[in-house]
Amino acid sequence: MSLGRRRAPIVTQGGRMPAGEAGLEEGTNRTSDPAGSKLVLFFHSSGSKELTISDLLRSTNNFDQANIIGCGGFGLVYKSSLPDGTQAAIKRLSSDCGQMEREFQAEVEALSRAQHKNLVSLKGYCKFGHDRLLIYSYMENGAWTTGCTRGLRIALGAARGLAYLHTICDPNIIHRDVKSSNILLDESFEAHLADFGLSRLICPYDTHVTTDLVGTLGYIPPEYAQTLTATLKGDVYSFGIVLLELLTGRRPVDVCRAKGSRDLVSWVLQMKSEGKVEQVFDPLIWSKSLERQLRAVLVTACKCISVDPRSRPSIEEVVSWLDGAGGNS
Ligand SMILES: Nc1ncnc2c1ncn2[C@@H]1O[C@H](COP(=O)(O)OP(=O)(O)OP(=O)(O)O)[C@@H](O)[C@H]1O
Ligand SMILES: [Mg+2]
Repeated sequence: MSLGRRRAPIVTQGGRMPAGEAGLEEGTNRTSDPAGSKLVLFFHSSGSKELTISDLLRSTNNFDQANIIGCGGFGLVYKSSLPDGTQAAIKRLSSDCGQMEREFQAEVEALSRAQHKNLVSLKGYCKFGHDRLLIYSYMENGAWTTGCTRGLRIALGAARGLAYLHTICDPNIIHRDVKSSNILLDESFEAHLADFGLSRLICPYDTHVTTDLVGTLGYIPPEYAQTLTATLKGDVYSFGIVLLELLTGRRPVDVCRAKGSRDLVSWVLQMKSEGKVEQVFDPLIWSKSLERQLRAVLVTACKCISVDPRSRPSIEEVVSWLDGAGGNS
């Protein structure tokens, strides 16, 4: 990717741009970049100086392979060192799908509105030719993995982030891809939920309720197969799977395991019905002194994964149960 010489401002400070002025349309002459795209980016943090696409490219050494910190369903994620000394993670989405433009703008609007200490914040975005760059705060400790002793505290943080999306954010946001790899940890191992809304970015269909390509195997609620409608209770189901991962140290689907224990939900329910609950707990986190706590979390997880969505708790109830189980300590 070559750089235009002109320093076209692509960052505005301190707040959102009105949708009509966000300037995501193609084909303007505001910049001299080869693709002729208009570049706009906004930041919430008041300290940010204006940035240009050149600054962004420099910050990742022209999207050098050495800067890649992750690879997901939406594209590659790069570590970036911004000119003001802060670090960021830049997700680079590539697509030539025309209908994506409005989706991208709508989603960025939604993402920019959601601000909570347990959410990964979107620092900015821009469009460069067919690429869309989403700039997030950098999470020092990457994605959450099982076997972590701080697991319960991390789960509680993620639940709080989800509760914010479900109840406080206006309009409410259904995450649609709750999973452990979307729970990122900062330098103090505080949980930050990531990627809410991105699923729609990559799925630019006419209707906003289709879920056929959304979500990740092992986390998708059973009712989505029939209804194709994302719901708050669907997110609660996926969060229940995350809790099971925390408790068992197992992946939601693990084809390397023996038949009968490949699917985490079936295995846990089977063990419970056989009265072997103690055996489901990950030896790395199990201890007799934590037994009461771990059993309480298992009860919560099992409620979240109820087949009937109406039997599942709200995420706010989950927050209070995890709190009661000692997630804050
Ligand atoms: N803000 C961030 N700070 C630090 N690392 C990040 C950040 N965002 C993503 N990553 C890293 O990049 C990896 C890939 O993230 P990405 O969201 O693209 O994929 P995913 O979560 O595995 O799957 P999906 O595409 O379904 O969300 C993460 O697992 C994490 O290690
Ligand atoms: Mg992700």
